[in-house]
Amino acid sequence: MKEKLENRSQWASNIGFILAASGSAVGLGNIWKFPGKVAAYGGGAFILCYILIVALVGFPVMLAELSLGRATQKNAVGAFRKLNRRWTFAGCIGIVTLFVILSYYTVVGGWVLKYIWVYLTGADFGGGATQYQDYFMNFVSSPIEPLILGVIFLLVCIYVIVRGVSEGIERVSKFLMPCLFVLLIAIVIQSVTLPGAVEGVKYLFTVRPGTVNGDTLVGALGQAFFSLSVGMGIMITYGSYVPKKENLAKSAGVICAVDTMVAILAALAIVPVVFVTLGADSLGQGGGVAFMALPDVFGRMPGGVVFGCLFFMLLFLAALTSAISIMESCVAFLTEEFHLTRLKATILLTLPMLVLSAGYSLSQSSARGINLPWFDFHEGLQMLPMNAVMEKFTDNLMIPLGALFFCLFVGWVWGSKNAVREIENNGEHPFPVKKFGHFLCVFWHLWSSL
Ligand code: PHE
Repeated sequence: MKEKLENRSQWASNIGFILAASGSAVGLGNIWKFPGKVAAYGGGAFILCYILIVALVGFPVMLAELSLGRATQKNAVGAFRKLNRRWTFAGCIGIVTLFVILSYYTVVGGWVLKYIWVYLTGADFGGGATQYQDYFMNFVSSPIEPLILGVIFLLVCIYVIVRGVSEGIERVSKFLMPCLFVLLIAIVIQSVTLPGAVEGVKYLFTVRPGTVNGDTLVGALGQAFFSLSVGMGIMITYGSYVPKKENLAKSAGVICAVDTMVAILAALAIVPVVFVTLGADSLGQGGGVAFMALPDVFGRMPGGVVFGCLFFMLLFLAALTSAISIMESCVAFLTEEFHLTRLKATILLTLPMLVLSAGYSLSQSSARGINLPWFDFHEGLQMLPMNAVMEKFTDNLMIPLGALFFCLFVGWVWGSKNAVREIENNGEHPFPVKKFGHFLCVFWHLWSSL
């Protein structure tokens, strides 16, 4: 047993862990979903609710997961199994959610690759009044090209995963995360210095009375869980690679702060620029903001090709580090529970996922009138037929359910005392505010009794 623990992979440095976990948290959710949601839920009110929810709900759930992982030194499923066999299902919920998310993440990753290519080769969208929409719709509904690009995206992830935790994931994150930050800051500066951008910034940060309601809160809660990568067992897996001497609470605080900051910066990069160029209405298009509205904006601005290219590279980095974390959690589960090598586990995971991803890609064709009845999931003019169905399934059901079971488990089954002991590491890292420890216990109990 002792030997096994010593053989387990670990992060080589705490900063490496923080960057890898932030890489997981910072993803399409921050850059693609968050700005759209801020606009849809009325600006400042949403941002305010979001920050509160990250601090009061997201942070404790993240800490619950990290402590479970580090205490058990296991993957998401193994951690529950080790402490109480009957709770194995809670970890399984996480793995199923991750599998589904990775399959649509891969498809969008492929789209991002396509757009990087388009910008690198001169950004020719074909002309015409609705050129950007037409271009995007034609691309996503073509049966083969998005599929191939999705596979390429997946291959890059596999390459990193197979190299291992510190040699692969940590090294890549240490390099990519600072790049992501620099790119983002460059785009923010460009966006907020455009003439008229002040209006967009105001729109973003003004809290309008009447926009804080139940919907805003639920929207912010779902977004926070997804964006922090909690409720799925990723942080259990990543926590299991953290050495005992590191301060879990501090690291979780930094990860939450980085994730939230990137989301707000992304909103600052996107909302003012779209607001100025196309008007507030174009912000409500969800995923379309990134693939249809922004290319339109870049097309109208001097040096837009360069910024377009930078933006899609940013999106690629964000998507890549998140996809890697999802894959790692699934691979850790397969290698530890079924004693497979990392390579075998990765292949085993990839094959069924490709089938599901192909389903999404083909469901786009179906929405465009190409007759593929099995993949026909679209309602009306919805842009992402099957993705949308799956997103609802994961964001509204599986992730909150996972978070609920994790807290129920930590609060009542494993015991919040044990969790706090793990976090404090026998008093080595007492919570800065003593009462905060009590808050965590109360939170885990309250949330789980909802
Ligand atoms: N947190 C990531 C994002 O914001 C998404 C993600 C979900 C990553 C689930 C890992 C697991 O996009």
